[in-house]
Amino acid sequence: MAMLELLGKSHLLWVHLPIGFIFLALVLTLLKRKNPEAPYLILLPLIWRLATLAAIFAVFSGFLLSENQEGTNLFFHQYAGIFLTIGLITYLIFKNEFLLIFISILFVTTIHLGSSLTHGEDYLFTEKKKVITQLNEVELYEDAIVPIFKAKCFSCHKPGKSKGDLDLTNYEKIGDKEELVRRTHLPKSHKEFMPANGKAPLSKEQLAILSYWVEIGAPKSKRLAQLQLSAKRKSMFESFFKLDENPLLSLNVKPAKYEHLAKNGFLIQPIYRQSALLEVKYTGKGKPDLKLLQEVKKQVVWLDLSNTGLRNEDLKIVGQLENLFKLNLSKNDISNPGIMDLGELKNLTEINLYETEVNAAALNHLMKLPKIQRIYLWETKLPPYYLDSIAKINPTISLIYER
Ligand code: HEC
Repeated sequence: MAMLELLGKSHLLWVHLPIGFIFLALVLTLLKRKNPEAPYLILLPLIWRLATLAAIFAVFSGFLLSENQEGTNLFFHQYAGIFLTIGLITYLIFKNEFLLIFISILFVTTIHLGSSLTHGEDYLFTEKKKVITQLNEVELYEDAIVPIFKAKCFSCHKPGKSKGDLDLTNYEKIGDKEELVRRTHLPKSHKEFMPANGKAPLSKEQLAILSYWVEIGAPKSKRLAQLQLSAKRKSMFESFFKLDENPLLSLNVKPAKYEHLAKNGFLIQPIYRQSALLEVKYTGKGKPDLKLLQEVKKQVVWLDLSNTGLRNEDLKIVGQLENLFKLNLSKNDISNPGIMDLGELKNLTEINLYETEVNAAALNHLMKLPKIQRIYLWETKLPPYYLDSIAKINPTISLIYER
């Protein structure tokens, strides 16, 4: 899927190939009339073939790019491109000089319409979304209102297609904001209801956010942090930005310094750029000094202590890392008492116990953790037939072991 998307986005790069080849082929074919003996003309059949191939590719990538988009220019650009390609194929087969006129006209038309579709050089990158990880960083208009308009309104209210003379893509041109609320809140059957023509209406949440924005004066730049949100509004925004679905993203922790941890063999990385949440792996020589982790104990969400010489008594400290989501304890000399010392890791979703000495009591303890989803148990004391039976009783937790 991502590959196809990329191919679509790369349409603008691909189209330069047919443009170059077709232009060259047309010019050389013209020159051929003057001087049919020119030596470079032996390349001409190859250039025509390359031009055709490149055109087919451009049409294909163009289709991927234009999915879910509409517009008159796009419509004509698409068909001009398709007929151009058909023209090229036909010319390859019949070599009819008459077709060259047809090809030339469509060639110019396709390029002209295509270039009018693209605005700005950063086109390839416009889809990059800002990742919202905390409500405080949300710009109300940019991050919430614009995406709503984009999803439900831009198709009819943008430059070049501003139905009712309304262009919603530009804040300065929006005009009467109350009208936006009125139109979107009408009964669906009302003739002034927006979005028009039976297009998907705003969701309850989108309606509430739009109303709220207009209610506070439709500001262009206001961060949610600057507004006094009621608990209800807060959870409305959290659900809009899907912060409620990814508990990782809604964790609110203060970052602490951790440079000295690196000196002690811990490889530490934020889980994404600028996050306070950390992925920690011990790569040092000898046993890790786990006490050091206490300084970042709320920040560690992934911890990899595989093959680091851990003993049961070390796990008490690991149990204090309350925001751990994933924990790798594989290839250590640990057994049931150590696992009990982990206590109630309330966020833990995944634990790896490959090549450890744990058995049924440890497994039983782990399966009671509220968020646990996956437990790796290869080469433990737990026999596969036993794990088979446990897995049957608990279909929502995956146990991973040799079968
Ligand atoms: C399918 C096309 C279409 C979509 C999608 C659409 N509109 Fe419209 N809109 C129209 C047309 C056509 C008119 C002009 C006719 C009318 O005023 O009802 C219009 C008019 C309006 C007007 C009145 C403009 C004025 O000043 O008279 C507003 C406000 C409006 N739309 C808001 C919206 C909002 C908000 C959305 C997204 C939730 C939206 N529209 C989505 C087609 C659409």
